[in-house]
Amino acid sequence: MCGIVGYAGKTKAIPKIMTGLKSLEYRGYDSSGIAYVKDKKVKTIKKSGPINNLDEHLSYDEDTTIGISHTRWATHGRADDINSHPHHQGKITLVHNGIIENYDVLKRKLIEEGYHFISETDTEVAAAVIDSLYKESNNMVETLSKASEALKGSYALAILNSDNLDTIYALRKDSPLIVGLGNGENILASDIPAIAHVTTKYVVLDNYDIVVLNKDKVTFYNKAKEEITKNPRIFSLADETISKNGFDHFMLKEINEESDVVKKLLSLHTENNHIKDIYDITKYQRIDIVACGSASFAGQIGKYYIEKFKNIPVSVHFASEYRYQKNFFNKDTLVILISQSGETADTLAALKIAKENGSDTLAIVNRHDSSIAREADHVLYIEAGIEIAVATTKAYLAQVILLLFLAIKGIREEKKIIEDLKLLPNLITKYINEFDYTKIAKMFVNKDHVFYLGRGIDFFLSMEGSLKLKEISYIHSEAFQAGELKHGSISLIDEDFGVIAVVTDKNISDKTISNLKEVSARGAKIVAITNIEDDNFSDAKIMVDDISDVINPLTVIVPMQMLAYTVANLKKCDIDKPRNLAKSVTVE
Ligand code: AGP
Repeated sequence: MCGIVGYAGKTKAIPKIMTGLKSLEYRGYDSSGIAYVKDKKVKTIKKSGPINNLDEHLSYDEDTTIGISHTRWATHGRADDINSHPHHQGKITLVHNGIIENYDVLKRKLIEEGYHFISETDTEVAAAVIDSLYKESNNMVETLSKASEALKGSYALAILNSDNLDTIYALRKDSPLIVGLGNGENILASDIPAIAHVTTKYVVLDNYDIVVLNKDKVTFYNKAKEEITKNPRIFSLADETISKNGFDHFMLKEINEESDVVKKLLSLHTENNHIKDIYDITKYQRIDIVACGSASFAGQIGKYYIEKFKNIPVSVHFASEYRYQKNFFNKDTLVILISQSGETADTLAALKIAKENGSDTLAIVNRHDSSIAREADHVLYIEAGIEIAVATTKAYLAQVILLLFLAIKGIREEKKIIEDLKLLPNLITKYINEFDYTKIAKMFVNKDHVFYLGRGIDFFLSMEGSLKLKEISYIHSEAFQAGELKHGSISLIDEDFGVIAVVTDKNISDKTISNLKEVSARGAKIVAITNIEDDNFSDAKIMVDDISDVINPLTVIVPMQMLAYTVANLKKCDIDKPRNLAKSVTVE
């Protein structure tokens, strides 16, 4: 979602700012903008559409050494030039990531004070709040401390004040913001890739931290306006460098990395075919898994494994619902939060609720130092490396594998399962390279609707397969429990309807096959992703291996991803940045 970069240095600022901003494109956005200081004045340029639209209006040689910039994913108001950030009120120009929940009340008050608004955004209101508070003290630290009282919701703010144009101010609550500490230059941004061209030394901001940054110095304050010391960390450039490595798309590159991700997890967490030290879930009587999108579908596979091997009841919840429903928190309930980015607003909020209500929390995340990783009681990193494509692939598989590790630690079959899991890296390579996905994908490019069908674990896998297909190819796709179809939804089926069946669980495959027969009897052509060799239930097939009940679900993940990728590629969709989507969903 929205990306922020602010830079102050000795050299020309625009190239530094734009390099950072472009590295945040993967987060998803629909407009971009910049404000920089030239001749003691703030100059603002903002454009809807791709960053190139902004680039065309910039001179990289401009004589400026300081500026703030933004990629916006529209929430309040359309994605047009006016609503794009930066926003300006009085002496204040700022960019914002998050949502100001009380913007309407504040706006009415500010209009009474004489403020006039030109955009539909909550951000312009934040600018006016800060300008109005600044008039009271003429002190930005004091102002931002007060602003953190006045503004409800989530915000990462980077701010210029026309009274002090060699300084960038920042404030953060529940939206990510880091500060990169350079040599004669400093930078702040939403994520590490955006500072990598300036420094590898960085500070992660906590909620309500206030930052005063210029080219020579960065000073941090807490909400009580006391100067505080923050411990800098160092990241590895190799881990954070964004490159497609010769692949056409990040998604394809990331699918190709899955084999190494599995090997890495095996080497980090197993020894002599046993799980090394891992968080002990056996002491809990109940587990809630809370996540969004694919991460929640990974949770469904985790539920299957944990219930099967640990006999602990597990319920899986979408974080956006969990926050507002009745929950049964206590010391015997573990709440597992799953998130690639570690910044998903609903998942973060669910984590806070669980903690406040006395449950232990375990985060399964990819991004180190992310808010969820830092706030959870315990963390398991999935170590999948930076994931750029909006459609998650390697992170989803890694989440499932870590849940499997939690489930099998200490059980009788542990050794056999790990031995079998060691087959997966080679299978993944085989599934990527040895199958003609184009032939199957052509059966779907012209479809308007697709059902992904399965039963039991195959249904939970279908949920992910279906999401993958719809988010990048824009084909309407639903996952459906195969046995439930004839209770209403089979009326949709005709020869134009696309059907993909996931059939890996031999315990229930006969029943699934009967349901598939009902579907083909109504004219639909069926593509099966299956380990059943002699089938008479599909019109085309992606054949996966039959390893064991435990490993079989993992075999279909890469073929489902490759199929979705190939369909989207044939349709010439913007695979890595599908319309309307953001990689890191930092608003609720
Ligand atoms: C899946 O491809 C999506 N990008 C999406 O469902 C994603 O998994 C979800 O938004 C959760 O994100 P997170 O893992 O960063 O919390």
